[in-house]
Amino acid sequence: MKAIKPHLLALPDYPYTARQALIKLDQNESPYGLPPELKAELAARLEALPLNRYPEMHAERLVERIADFEGWPASGVVVGPGSNTLIAALVTAALRVLDVQPSFVHYKHVADLLGTPYRAVPLEEGFKLPVEGLLAALEEAETPGVFFLPNPHTPTGAFFVPERVQVLCEAAARHDWLMVLDEAYYQFAPSDLKRQALGQPHLAVLRTFSKAWGLAGARAGYLLASDEAARVVRHLMPPFGVPAPTVLAVELALEHPGYVTEAVEKVRRERERVYLELKAHPSWTVYPSHTNFLLVRTPDAAAAFEGLLKRGILVRRQDHIPGLEGAIRVTIGTPVENDAFLQAAFELAKEEKEGEGAASED
Ligand SMILES: Cc1ncc(COP(=O)(O)O)c(C=O)c1O
Repeated sequence: MKAIKPHLLALPDYPYTARQALIKLDQNESPYGLPPELKAELAARLEALPLNRYPEMHAERLVERIADFEGWPASGVVVGPGSNTLIAALVTAALRVLDVQPSFVHYKHVADLLGTPYRAVPLEEGFKLPVEGLLAALEEAETPGVFFLPNPHTPTGAFFVPERVQVLCEAAARHDWLMVLDEAYYQFAPSDLKRQALGQPHLAVLRTFSKAWGLAGARAGYLLASDEAARVVRHLMPPFGVPAPTVLAVELALEHPGYVTEAVEKVRRERERVYLELKAHPSWTVYPSHTNFLLVRTPDAAAAFEGLLKRGILVRRQDHIPGLEGAIRVTIGTPVENDAFLQAAFELAKEEKEGEGAASED
């Protein structure tokens, strides 16, 4: 097709394949969502919503609410239908993109779409932040650009301590980069970096309503940035792009943040329980996590994935990522869902052992 830029025709699909399963632990969603009384209130507000009218140009009322909630100037807040869309706007604005490897796939995906120069520095042994490598990359690049750092990190679940991140923030400022701290999972970690970013024009924070808030289906995320960066990103967002029903759902959630604290507490407790139980697995290695998911190294990711799916549990394979051979990623669900996952995981271990026994008898 000659009408299309050739590099786009050659791009691989986004690395996600939808599969049906009873227990869905593949997208790091919250197993809880809005509590029933808030759902009823949302239904009432939706009924009164004039859907024949466009929403506001850039969700201005919601921007004010988020600014109040976060203690950030409204002029530096941008809301998008999912933080993915804000990432796309940031990459569109960037002269180049710096990332770590592995990382959240969307940064590279958009850079590839747009033909933006992209470089990723591999994490160090034990999923440690490669501070030296990143300092060199920030300094050596021909021009500055946008540096994305997901913290807590995905897909490993690691948490980079603020002191080490701070070194990179200072280097980003020194070399005129915009460093975007992607805090999609910050509620599940011991601290957040927003305070560091306030008043720092070279730092921005990206957050989402898709994880701890349990609103992945509503599609909403936001950027906290300097006025200048926010203005550019806002320009790049489609006008009237945040649907009115989404605005209602998020506004309601922001009025009742207590339900999020409760849900996060339950998920953190379950994460520790599943982590400890999985440590006893004879052939899988589980990594510590500061998110709502666990990264697990198995001898064979395809066999683990299919074996779990056969038992009604959908997880996400990560073994296509260099350095994550054999890895799967499992979202923390409800206690019942997690029990089903653990049971399936240990059944697979038993099958594996029986298979080995049968093979050695042959
Ligand atoms: C690190 C990170 N950033 C951003 C997102 C995108 O979130 P959303 O577009 O749902 O706001 C995700 C989703 O998985 C993520 O893991």
